[in-house]
Amino acid sequence: MNDVLLIDVDGPIATLTLNRPDKLNAISYELADALSAALDHLEARSDVRVVILTGAGDRAFCAGADIPQFAKSIELGREAAVQDFVRRGQRLTGQIEALRTPVIVAVNGLAYGGGCEITEAAPIALAASEAVFAKPEVLLGMPPTFGGTQRLARQAGRKRSLELLLTGESFGAERALEMGLVNAVVPRSELFEAVRDLATRIAAQEPEAVAAILTATTRGINVPIDEGLRMEREAFAQLVGSRALREGLGRWIDAHPARERRQGRTGS
Ligand code: COA
Repeated sequence: MNDVLLIDVDGPIATLTLNRPDKLNAISYELADALSAALDHLEARSDVRVVILTGAGDRAFCAGADIPQFAKSIELGREAAVQDFVRRGQRLTGQIEALRTPVIVAVNGLAYGGGCEITEAAPIALAASEAVFAKPEVLLGMPPTFGGTQRLARQAGRKRSLELLLTGESFGAERALEMGLVNAVVPRSELFEAVRDLATRIAAQEPEAVAAILTATTRGINVPIDEGLRMEREAFAQLVGSRALREGLGRWIDAHPARERRQGRTGS
């Protein structure tokens, strides 16, 4: 695997590290493709139950798309710009959002542009208290292109998102928490322990149940509730007859013998 992306699998937890620290882990096309391929690969592995995504170095999670590179695509014209840059980025964030294996983003530093959009797309994110976020595309004369005009407004509300989108001003981890962009904020020195702890708690659950919950919740947000409830029924129906559900119910029932059975036992 290319070293713009580091991959480490430790038991059920895989860690992907964006590894261009001298460029604040900006996402080049090469890095986007490597990340996309790694996510495909990890999703197909039954031993991997959670994917952690973070950035190398002590400054940044990710400073967004690689500006000089996508500027060249823009010079080639509309078709190349949309195909090489926008579609590639939207595919990547869509993949992170929809992966059947949960992705936890560990925002270890700057999360600008695409770094913020990856955080928006991920099902769970934890941030270091030192992390700084921004939606700076407006300063480049463009809208965000990796889902940044869509997901934050759905998560945090239109007006709060537009203030950040229209000014490009940076904001801190506490604001990100208050907006629902991250689940928790912890000191940087404790970030990886906190992320690993959460990953371990999720990895202990039945992967089929985790995937069903993830898919129904993530897809359900974007459709009318009747359609979301249909997805929920489907997600449940898929599990009927599965070992996961049989064993899960069996564990609870074994641990809670019915009153009649308990009384029968003591009475006999
Ligand atoms: N694409 C490509 N390279 C980037 C980058 C990006 N998005 N963001 C930072 N880098 C590179 C810089 O060019 C510099 O490389 P160099 O040392 O080879 O010149 C290195 O990362 C460090 O960045 P620098 O700008 O010197 O750090 P800083 O602390 O002064 O500023 C930022 C940090 C994040 C404010 C600034 O780098 C920035 O504005 N980055 C772009 C953010 C952005 O607009 N992202 C959205 C793109 S759509």
